[in-house]
Amino acid sequence: MNRWLTVWGSAGALAFGLVGGAAVETAPGVGAAFPAAMQETASSTLDGVFTSAQARRGRRVYNQNCASCHGQGLRGGEMAPGIAGSDFIVFWTELPVGSLFERIRVSMPEDGPGRLSDEEYTDVVAYMLDRNDYPSGDTELPADKAALDEIMIVAAE
Ligand code: HEC
Repeated sequence: MNRWLTVWGSAGALAFGLVGGAAVETAPGVGAAFPAAMQETASSTLDGVFTSAQARRGRRVYNQNCASCHGQGLRGGEMAPGIAGSDFIVFWTELPVGSLFERIRVSMPEDGPGRLSDEEYTDVVAYMLDRNDYPSGDTELPADKAALDEIMIVAAE
């Protein structure tokens, strides 16, 4: 038992202390699963996390709901800031895509927040990534905040 207490540190020692001798039997299996969980790596916007078809759908959503303020091509207008190029990178680099999704979902379109479906918001995010020169791939961005939180926005190469 001492061997496993050493590997797991004080938190493990406390748990093992509570369950007593029975823990010795289960320790190897639990110990094996632990490092695997730590190896799980988050992806980034450079990994092709949306499809080009999704970005095209997003462009339609954008033109109907966002372009009036943010301008064609996301460059900004009199009504709103630009959301492409340096405007986008300065603000969003090192944040997860889930934060961008949530920001848009709760506050945009400014004249009617929450008006779109989660799928439409996700498609708009795909269009924004496309316009910011991130590569498309084989899988669509999921319309799910928790899953989007696993994808980091990094500076485009
Ligand atoms: C009625 C005008 C209007 C519409 C329509 C609109 N926005 Fe905005 N948007 C704004 C204004 C004004 C701001 C800046 C104030 C703020 O941050 O809330 C903004 C800010 C933003 C930001 C944050 C900018 C940043 O710092 O990166 C994002 C992202 C955004 N809008 C996306 C969208 C998307 C996507 C849509 C369409 C679904 C949309 N907006 C529709 C007016 C608008």
